[in-house]
Amino acid sequence: MKPSMIILGIETSCDDTALALLEVQGETYRILSQEASSQTALHKKWGGVVPNLAQREHQRNLVPVLKKVLEEADLLNKKKSEKGTPDLHILLEREQELQKKLSHFLSQYEKPPIDLISVTSHPGLEPALWVGINFAKALSATWNIPLLGVDHLEGHLLVSLLEEEKSNNSFRLLHAPEMFPALALIVSGGHTALLLMEGLGVYRMIGETRDDAAGECFDKVARLLSLGYPGGPAIAKKAAEKQSGEYSIVLPRPMIHTKDYDFSFSGLKTAVLYDFQKRSSQVKKSASYVRAMAKEVEQAICDVLISKTLKAVQEYGVHTVLMGGGVVANEHLRTELKNLLHKDFPAVLFRAPNIPLCTDNGVMIAIAAFQNWEQGKRTTTIQASSHTTISEI
Ligand code: KG4
Ligand code: ZN
Repeated sequence: MKPSMIILGIETSCDDTALALLEVQGETYRILSQEASSQTALHKKWGGVVPNLAQREHQRNLVPVLKKVLEEADLLNKKKSEKGTPDLHILLEREQELQKKLSHFLSQYEKPPIDLISVTSHPGLEPALWVGINFAKALSATWNIPLLGVDHLEGHLLVSLLEEEKSNNSFRLLHAPEMFPALALIVSGGHTALLLMEGLGVYRMIGETRDDAAGECFDKVARLLSLGYPGGPAIAKKAAEKQSGEYSIVLPRPMIHTKDYDFSFSGLKTAVLYDFQKRSSQVKKSASYVRAMAKEVEQAICDVLISKTLKAVQEYGVHTVLMGGGVVANEHLRTELKNLLHKDFPAVLFRAPNIPLCTDNGVMIAIAAFQNWEQGKRTTTIQASSHTTISEI
């Protein structure tokens, strides 16, 4: 049997500092630990993620979160004697606070038995991505462990293929040839895309948003309705409450009938704004109006996503539909897509990640890294970028 491999996954593309340790032995994946430090409370005030604040928080959180994942996996061992402090001046010259914390940590603790370090290199907010990348580079250089940059969207997509085994937190990654071609719907705060997947590591983008992502639309509408940040869960909660029927709001379903697989959600946000502006201040604040608007906006987003997905299932004759990304935590979207798919295409397999693995996490990065590593991919230089390269993987 192949020796096992332990992979550290580091995710800092947006407002979560998320790390995980994953062990892969043969076909078995075991999550040794995962931790995240969320910055939601900080960004809430601004109604969205502020890149420079996110960068500062990642600097503060990375070392404590690393310590936690190592501890949880029983891989944190103090050095017998503190041997010198590693010089991280060049690698972390722009991250002074992180530099101090990491130097101190590295002088105190032994190198853990990690075989591969992986980090999200794109897409995401560049200042936030750079902190994770430089942190990963510093760990890789000090511990002499190989490093791989990962596309965030590939991580979101692959977690949908995890199938839990009966025993001790272990999983298999489904990839039987008969599952392909597959269609992947990725919906997050930064992306809305439909991808065709011919097998692990072979992707083709067939449609994406021309403006706002679906998650961004949830977040902006929630801000308008004073529901706080992140908007998706807040809107979903309001939409699920009992409706009074007092307001019948009809929003557009942008691009639902176009022949392509692109999306557009900025018009939907504007339509919400127009409706909101014409209401009296009393109505705007009323719980029944907010609930009705939340329900309609959620339904409009779901209708467009589902309609385009089903059209692509038909056109491309796929065998599987996968979903990934933070918006897939939306129960209404998951259930409705699953039900309609089963009704119209009973032979097509449906896969969505477990809810906690939908939003950003370190496990998805470690899994994508392992897949890339197995396929022989090696990173020479890692650059942060706001663009995905998943179609070129
Ligand atoms: O994938 P993710 O964690 O970060 C990005 O890569 O962007 O996705 C975050 C997005 C946010 O826009 C958030 O509002 C949305 O996912 N989201 C949801 C739900 N939970 C998170 N949207 C709708 N319903 C939810 N339950
Ligand atoms: Zn994401």
